[in-house]
Amino acid sequence: MNFRTPIFLLTALILPGLAIAGDDMPGKAEFQTCIACHGANGEGNQALNAPGLAGQSESYLARQLWDFRSGKRGKEPGDTAGAQMLPMAEALPDGEAITNVAAYIAALPAAQPAATVEGDVANGQKQFTSKCGACHGGEGWGNEALFTPRLTVIGDWYLIRQVANFQESMRGVHEDSKYGKQMAMMAKTVTADELNDIAAFLNEQTQQ
Ligand code: HEC
Ligand code: HEC
Repeated sequence: MNFRTPIFLLTALILPGLAIAGDDMPGKAEFQTCIACHGANGEGNQALNAPGLAGQSESYLARQLWDFRSGKRGKEPGDTAGAQMLPMAEALPDGEAITNVAAYIAALPAAQPAATVEGDVANGQKQFTSKCGACHGGEGWGNEALFTPRLTVIGDWYLIRQVANFQESMRGVHEDSKYGKQMAMMAKTVTADELNDIAAFLNEQTQQ
């Protein structure tokens, strides 16, 4: 009889959905090259323009890495931060490395970025619910079925900059960027003030 099984089951019941990034996961090796900018725990680093990655969905992370490599992201004029990330994605040796590093990062405990903006949380909730929640989930946790990222782990400053990038044609303009184009249309529905309030609302949301 295996005595470990009941303990494992109990842990699984107590901690539903809490995935642990195991030391033995193959993506750990690839992740070492990301730490310099994204932080040892994938928490992000505003001074380097590098967003929080930990806890982001695996499918979104992998797709962004492919998008950088295929020129769908990081190549538009003016996108200096994207241009910095592009060679990092290209340096990953192959598709297996992309899958592995995305799985590792997704399993890290979700990043908890510090708030850098203040705003009208009630208005932010109203704006988010009517303009963003249908795709990104009511609390901004993302929806893999709709290919949307989790907005609570990335950092408010990065969220604001990315929406501006979509508005200013620095992201989501490549003809094959199906999901980027979708978001570019939505980005045009918010003003800077509304976006600030949305960021303040998302800062109030707990992590999954
Ligand atoms: C030299 C610094 C640097 C290194 C090293 C680096 N990144 Fe980045 N990364 C960035 C910056 C800057 C951005 C923001 C790009 C933008 O603003 O569009 C970024 C963005 C990303 C994104 C997009 C996140 C999102 O929410 O859309 C992913 C995914 C990513 N990096 C993964 C990685 C992985 C995996 C590695 C290691 C293999 C890595 N990065 C190494 C600087 C770096
Ligand atoms: C029709 C569905 C849809 C709606 C509505 C929508 N988005 Fe998105 N959003 C997407 C998709 C799809 C992506 C992924 C784009 C990609 O793969 O490059 C995205 C990406 C983003 C990103 C990039 C995150 C990152 O990690 O780089 C931000 C920020 C964002 N959305 C914010 C918003 C905000 C704020 C609103 C409301 C004003 C909103 N979205 C409304 C579909 C939507």
